[in-house]
Amino acid sequence: MPGVEFDAATRTWLLSTPDTGYALRLGDDGMLRHLYWGPRLTLAQASTVPAPRPATMTQFEGQVYDIEEFPVEGGARFGVPALQVRFADGTRGLELAFAGQQRNADTLSIRLVDRHYPFEVGLHYRVYPDSDVIERWTSLANTGDVPVEVLRADSATWPVPARADYVVRHVTGHWGGESQVERVDLARGETVLTSRRGTTGHHANPWFTIDAGDASEEHGEVFSGALAWSGTWRITLSRTPTDVVSVTGGAGHEGVSWRLAPSERRGTAVFAGLYSTGGYGATSRVWHRYVRGHVLPHPRELRPVTYNSWEATGFTVDEPGQRRLAAQAAELGAELFVMDDGWFGARVDDRAGLGDWTVNRNRFPNGLAPLAAEVHRLGMRFGIWVEPEMVNPDSDLYRARPDWVLHMRNRRRTELRHQLVLNFARPDVAEWAHGWLDELVGGNDVDFLKWDMNRPFTEAGWPDGGEDPDRLWVRYVENLYAVLDRLRADHPHLRIQTCSGGGGRVDLGILRRTDEVWPSDNTDARDRLSIQHGYGQIYPTVTMAAWVTDVPNFLTGRAVPLRFRFHVAMAGVLAIGGNLPEWTDEERAEARRLVAQYKRIRPVVQHGDVHRLLPPSDGLSATQYVAVDGAESVVFFWLPAPRFGREAAPGRLRGLDAAARYRDEATGEVQHGAVLLGHGLRPQLPSGDYASAVVHLVRVV
Ligand code: DGJ
Repeated sequence: MPGVEFDAATRTWLLSTPDTGYALRLGDDGMLRHLYWGPRLTLAQASTVPAPRPATMTQFEGQVYDIEEFPVEGGARFGVPALQVRFADGTRGLELAFAGQQRNADTLSIRLVDRHYPFEVGLHYRVYPDSDVIERWTSLANTGDVPVEVLRADSATWPVPARADYVVRHVTGHWGGESQVERVDLARGETVLTSRRGTTGHHANPWFTIDAGDASEEHGEVFSGALAWSGTWRITLSRTPTDVVSVTGGAGHEGVSWRLAPSERRGTAVFAGLYSTGGYGATSRVWHRYVRGHVLPHPRELRPVTYNSWEATGFTVDEPGQRRLAAQAAELGAELFVMDDGWFGARVDDRAGLGDWTVNRNRFPNGLAPLAAEVHRLGMRFGIWVEPEMVNPDSDLYRARPDWVLHMRNRRRTELRHQLVLNFARPDVAEWAHGWLDELVGGNDVDFLKWDMNRPFTEAGWPDGGEDPDRLWVRYVENLYAVLDRLRADHPHLRIQTCSGGGGRVDLGILRRTDEVWPSDNTDARDRLSIQHGYGQIYPTVTMAAWVTDVPNFLTGRAVPLRFRFHVAMAGVLAIGGNLPEWTDEERAEARRLVAQYKRIRPVVQHGDVHRLLPPSDGLSATQYVAVDGAESVVFFWLPAPRFGREAAPGRLRGLDAAARYRDEATGEVQHGAVLLGHGLRPQLPSGDYASAVVHLVRVV
């Protein structure tokens, strides 16, 4: 049984998940050491695992911080500290001693106290009966009567056991090019993945994998971790000169510090970890199941086929135009109609109106209710775009409350996209945002919010905010979470998409309170294949919105056929974002057919297990989804540029029952699982560039 056990004789704790074990031990010297992370073992076995190294080496090596469970600053430790504090008298660092534990079937909390100062640290763990993901977080308590300065407080440090080599995978990117997978040798030294932007960021995402260099998509041991936090963050992967590897991570970037007030107790975000033996593919599948089962608020729902107006209309939205789009979207089979930016205040472009969340009466003379009613009459849900954390300086809100934005004395207010960031750390700003959002949703039958956030923080200050200025970075996110949580609680039918100029705010923290993600503003189908590939390393398909838009694509100028565009978007949560009145009858007919097909396959695509058969390239790539009960499977093939007249080789399928037979729903042909697994499925692709196919297989009973 997965759970938490303790061997009193050796003072060894063992956390067991269905297939893995994680152990730590309190040494006779009082040091809490990491012991083991790998395949499952019994408590009796774990208690015999030798502690990795003696506590000290030479005077130049110091205390062997790298095998500590949570290496704080203090003493002869010279590695990356997971926790750094400064006490009121100027003393830095901690001398922690074990002070007790609390255990139940699936959680463990270890209490450590400073030997001198009134300060406590809690190390917390949770395991689940159905997942190999282990959640960890830390709590800090100031039990004294003067503030303590916290210079760094990570959620967890994940020690990676000794292996022959170390290769790290993570994503990098930028606006329009998010989630590009990097696979590099882990350098001796420190590799920092971080965001200093106020949000999770387009440029990096808070997850990593480490393997011994021998893992592949299908095989090998992989250690991985993902942080549940939507503000700035830092994950440091450390490889010492003697090849000891660990990863420490948590909220906040370098240089910020905040005060823990007297009697204050705070928990950090979760930094979850996973050990897997099935390569990168199995690692992703475990993360996906974990996110579906333990993170998302409505994991069992099917996401609707959506229409979004942004690429069709830009800021030019009005009631007749939106009604026209809605009618055509409904005809194609859309189930949710989302009106994007431009419906409020003086927002006719990106220069004005943000912050003035009253409907633009020139565009919607009778308010939003008639459009919402029409969308509902057409059988769709009604969604609307908002960007509650922002203000254009050219707005009534900013003219009334210039003090509400992030700013600092004697510093400029840097505008990006002609906008400034509202200081969500202020309770009055958060309350104001909740107030108008609550009214917007409640007063207009809004079913869905696309919650956008289109610029990073600059001059992140709050001059009158008190004596703990950097606390703003944390409070901002906490208040954002609180507004989302409150809206959800008061409007249980409301579903929310997280967007930040595309994929700028994607993490396990925001996914706890949103239902789906807009992974990128780049809707070019070819680029999208690699964006979706990177996104899906950790985040499940049911969260991955994907639009079919018009060509030539606004970003790349590329013209990809409609069928290929659909087949790429159908591998996620399908949406349409084209200017429908300009579509031909043939395009509309093809779209109707593909939407109908998507509705048949979406339970498998959205809730099934993903197998990345062939990664994106100029050649053939393929992704397969297998229903969790194994009864159905869907395979997508994409071939952007066939070469030399060569026929695509068959793709070997995964996750099927070798003894079962499967019927191709389009052709009626029945094939043996053993053949599909061992030999493969040859895609029937049309000729020419951007050839694609989707195959729906159903197990024959
Ligand atoms: C950025 C988003 O990613 C787009 O989809 C769109 O909603 C625009 N903002 C609107 O300003």
